[in-house]
Amino acid sequence: MKVLVVGSGGREHAICWKFAKSSKIEKVYCAPGNGGISQVAEIVDISVDDFNRLADFVKANDIDFTFVGPEAPLSLGIVDYFEERGLRIIGPSKIAARLESSKMYSKEFMYKYGIPTVQYNSFSSVDSVLKFLVNLNADKKIVVKADGLAAGKGVYICSGRDREGVVSVVKQMMEEKVLGEAGTNIIIEEYIDGPEFSYLVFTDGETYSVMPVSQDHKRVNDNDKGSNTGGMGAYAPTPLATEKLNKKVEDIIIRKVINGIKAEKFDYKGILYVGIIMDGSSPYVLEFNCRFGDPEAQTVLSLLDTDFVDICEAILDKNLANLKINWKKIFSVCVVLASRGYPRSFKKGFEIRGLENIRDKDTMVFHAGTKLEGKKIVTSGGRVLNVVSIASDIKSATDKVYSSVSMIKFESVHYRKDIARKVLNENKS
Ligand code: GLY
Repeated sequence: MKVLVVGSGGREHAICWKFAKSSKIEKVYCAPGNGGISQVAEIVDISVDDFNRLADFVKANDIDFTFVGPEAPLSLGIVDYFEERGLRIIGPSKIAARLESSKMYSKEFMYKYGIPTVQYNSFSSVDSVLKFLVNLNADKKIVVKADGLAAGKGVYICSGRDREGVVSVVKQMMEEKVLGEAGTNIIIEEYIDGPEFSYLVFTDGETYSVMPVSQDHKRVNDNDKGSNTGGMGAYAPTPLATEKLNKKVEDIIIRKVINGIKAEKFDYKGILYVGIIMDGSSPYVLEFNCRFGDPEAQTVLSLLDTDFVDICEAILDKNLANLKINWKKIFSVCVVLASRGYPRSFKKGFEIRGLENIRDKDTMVFHAGTKLEGKKIVTSGGRVLNVVSIASDIKSATDKVYSSVSMIKFESVHYRKDIARKVLNENKS
């Protein structure tokens, strides 16, 4: 079989790597890919939103199906476009992808289907935010979120006392359009100070299969300090997601979401990512994503035992109920190496050295913001590389991953030194 993966980040590198391992795969293509994906796939120079050229390429090369990595083409309707042209593709339709592309819509969906979510208000003008702030309890923290897609950069945690700060963030989003149209409308949520979990499921729109639960590290600096990012590291499975919690999340959240998807008659084939936050022992949905998380994909796919192609075929054939998906009974830890300054401004074009020194068979390096310049690999983005190690316990996986990370050198490298450390301290696992 031949498969096309759409996207260019560490997530897509991990997806291509997993496809390339399948005995059923003759060729993996990736559009537009990056400097490292060419190790496992043929790079196709077509951008993720050029649906016409992507579909032409699929037809011309007899590609069996397409797998979409990032949210942007899903929110623009790549699945609808491909299906109209009779092409097999994994991902939700445009209308279903609103579960991620509009926070306001996802909240309405959750209210409609009785899914526990964090209390919120939605706003479409600065004036209405000012009125809301008058009655806000100053002792409370709030979270300001852009309604639309912002690659993890549209979330601000503010103190209720800092009204000027809140107004400044809101004005930047709504009036100065720092996030483009994504910040035209916003929501303001109650802040909950609890652990977060990433529950990812495969779904064919009828049924679902839950992946090992992971924890992302969203803040840019150690000890969860600094700005929110797309994710600076992850590990899985987390022992903090106990069997009891997993059952509760399935019962009161995941099953209801899938039932809601069915009731809305959404065409949904692919990955659903449910971001959960705990308030004491109660799980609440923070957000839905309609695709693999990045870096969750890198950590979770390294645990997958079942052939990824079998899962994709079961999703496409709406036959997921009849497939048993197996996971390795081990742990994986992923550390993101970023350009200093990310998620704000940063310099690029620095040569990356030392990759050839990583020879551990249980360690993978997935590229994100890299590109090839002649024989050199240079930095070309905010999140540059993802190093993932697997081992029979979290501590060994963490030690291995940081030993490999220390071999990689580039100017202005920044990474968190505490990925999975908190759970190690709490669980001593
Ligand atoms: N790591 C969070 C996300 O992919 O949205």
